[in-house]
Amino acid sequence: MSHENTATSTLPTGHPRELASAPGSEWWRSAVIYQIYPRSFADASGDGIGDLAGITQRLESLANLGVDAVWLSPFFRSPQKDAGYDVSDYCNVDPIFGTLDDFDALRDRAHELGLRVIVDLVPNHCSSEHEWFQEAMAAGPGSPERDRFIFRPGTGESGELPPNNWHSMFGGPAWTRTTNADGTPGDWYLHLFDSTQPDFDWTNPWVWEQFRQILRFWLDRGVDGFRVDVAHGLMKAEGLPDIDEVDEADSELAEGLMGSLEVPYWGQETVHAVYRDWHAVLAEYEGDRVLCAEAWVEPLAKAALWVRPDEMHQAFNFSYLATPWLAPRLRDVITESLEAFTGVGAPSTWVLSNHDVVRHASRLGLAPYSAGPVSGIGPSSPEKPDAALGLHRARAATALMLALPGSAYLYQGEELGLPEVIELDDDYRQDPSFHRTAGEVYGRDGCRVPIPWEPDAPAFGFNTTGESWLPQPETFAQFAHSAQAGVEGSTLELYRRALALRAEYGFGLGALTWLEGYGDDVIAFRNGDVTVIANLGDAPVEVPAGEVVLASDPLDAGSIPRDTTVWVTA
Ligand code: NOJ
Repeated sequence: MSHENTATSTLPTGHPRELASAPGSEWWRSAVIYQIYPRSFADASGDGIGDLAGITQRLESLANLGVDAVWLSPFFRSPQKDAGYDVSDYCNVDPIFGTLDDFDALRDRAHELGLRVIVDLVPNHCSSEHEWFQEAMAAGPGSPERDRFIFRPGTGESGELPPNNWHSMFGGPAWTRTTNADGTPGDWYLHLFDSTQPDFDWTNPWVWEQFRQILRFWLDRGVDGFRVDVAHGLMKAEGLPDIDEVDEADSELAEGLMGSLEVPYWGQETVHAVYRDWHAVLAEYEGDRVLCAEAWVEPLAKAALWVRPDEMHQAFNFSYLATPWLAPRLRDVITESLEAFTGVGAPSTWVLSNHDVVRHASRLGLAPYSAGPVSGIGPSSPEKPDAALGLHRARAATALMLALPGSAYLYQGEELGLPEVIELDDDYRQDPSFHRTAGEVYGRDGCRVPIPWEPDAPAFGFNTTGESWLPQPETFAQFAHSAQAGVEGSTLELYRRALALRAEYGFGLGALTWLEGYGDDVIAFRNGDVTVIANLGDAPVEVPAGEVVLASDPLDAGSIPRDTTVWVTA
């Protein structure tokens, strides 16, 4: 980070009157937030990687879709070893995405359109190319610069073994050994992710101060909030003890799976003080700024600790995302979510897709009821999704999700019904989890392919040059935005209608009442005056009396077929 850059209090915030909500308006309690993955949304420069100017040009389509806010995955300076989650300057824009002026233009346009802007904050680790880490390497053992990170001597006779048995979430050990200035092998540093992503030492007040400054930099620049990466991982147990369940830890799924186990780097009680500190920073600003935790912890009652009144505002509901398409399991997770989050005075959130998991239009098509692997499928994966079934269920799943009280997250392209790209040549794969496991884990590239806007344009309208950092399959043409806009029955129009009705009926601030008597395979509830029924079983379900205002797919002579959701007003 360039410290000079932080003196920005004179910058315009870009907050138009209608977005400068009075304190207490708490827009985030019911908001639908659309995740933009900047590399793959729209590419104004034509170099094949999406950019901020491209996003700005396409923002109107999101206002038309009916979302309330956008969350941008990282666009900060970064060597891009983990697609931007390896930040080398938190207060600047990477040249591949544009400039700070481009960010300001995006913010202004978004606010003009009534969209709030949330940016990604990556506090667990930075890039090994960040000047803070470079300085630590140069300063050597015992220096205050090294105390910014977690350097430790190795074990074994001459320090040749890592300090403990922790494994990287992307495969391989979580430690990398340094070389001293005189060429001898030195201490090791911790990286829970790639070796280019050294973990900060959050017991060091210096780190706290840097992140306060980063928060202020973006708050002064008018952002409406932060999605906080690895929000469960900042604090490590004292003494960095070995982990018992080393097999599970040595897995690409570790970040998710370890959530329910006692792990010395996830969910330490001490982490919450960080968010209380940040809560106070945000509270200095007008306009209801928010923090959303990416905390893969289970059970939900534990995730709710991140959103106690003096901490963050929202936490992603990964338990919901990971629930298989089975009615009893979904009913349970919905009940548990509402109890856990309302128990601490926070809204529940709902999410089905993001840039780290197989897109739900494919995931839900994996046989028979699997929620699917969380991280990547490829040409030689044993399970191949049934595309038609997956899309059919995805539409029903979205119609169910958007009827729930609370706030919902959408991932770019899901409104087009976009599937996971499975047939991607290994040469194109960039996810570090693919490379650190020698291809054993396909990783997340398949959900990150640039999205299609027009069926017949170069790169399907992603840009005008036809370049694309990951190749788009020919089948993307049928999913293109312009091919669906205004087309009755298209997935895009389903999302638009669902979002408009959700707002009209106030579902986000509503309350859910379960309806009994529908049997095990049916999810049935009321939110306000609307009855919502999702049929996940073979037996058709009779449509209740009233007007069907939304159906995720056509009904069958007055009954709700399998894998279909309806909203009915009395
Ligand atoms: C979670 C992010 O969503 C993911 O994309 C990233 O690789 C890891 N955290 C590490 O920052």
